[in-house]
Amino acid sequence: MSTDLKRRVGETAADLVSSGMTLGLGTGSTATWFVQGVGERLRDGRLKDVLGVPTSRATEAQCRELAIPMVDLPAGGVDLAVDGMDEVTDGLDAIKGLGGALLREKIVAEAATEFVLIGDLSKRVDRLGQRSPIPVEVVPFGVARTEQRLKDLGLEPVLRGGPLEPQLTDNGNPILDCRAPEPFDATWLDAALHAIPGVVEHGLFVGMARAALVASDAEVVRLERPA
Ligand code: A5P
Repeated sequence: MSTDLKRRVGETAADLVSSGMTLGLGTGSTATWFVQGVGERLRDGRLKDVLGVPTSRATEAQCRELAIPMVDLPAGGVDLAVDGMDEVTDGLDAIKGLGGALLREKIVAEAATEFVLIGDLSKRVDRLGQRSPIPVEVVPFGVARTEQRLKDLGLEPVLRGGPLEPQLTDNGNPILDCRAPEPFDATWLDAALHAIPGVVEHGLFVGMARAALVASDAEVVRLERPA
């Protein structure tokens, strides 16, 4: 995905923000352009009284640089959350988390009145798992057992970073990237993954997004979740 497409879709998403909103601020190379757009609008006065809830330490650092005021996630949630995606279907189910921030991203997305995904055409798929693995954040204790439980579901888990230097999330947990060789029912797999005690959270975002902004060279298209 070219930087220009990321910038355009991030800018389009920034236009969805109104003064006074509390925002969920996503993570990744596309969401960073949304955050940038919000920061610019606050600086030049197009927006005021906006508060941001960053979904990662990286986004938190960007907010600090841009002087976007931050708050902890309020009990009442946020008005709008905008975040990148690794895959999205026409029904707006998605895979997220190749950037490793899936747990905080999902907590914030679930708390949003409106959750909007952003990305380019290359992220659209006919079925989830077509191109991207499903990232599964797990507790460090008993990883081998959790891995076995994921294999029992037909998944092919790979420890991100490898066994010698596992990559840890902002929450200090490893991630198992799970290829799904067969088509699967996302609602069923969502529940099956949550039933494994060692799983903290996974990157299937089923029925969560209200809309997706998808950039191509020609335009940015807004897809709405089917009623
Ligand atoms: C971060 O954990 C992810 O969910 C990202 O939002 C997702 O991987 C998309 O990232 P890019 O915009 O960098 O492709």
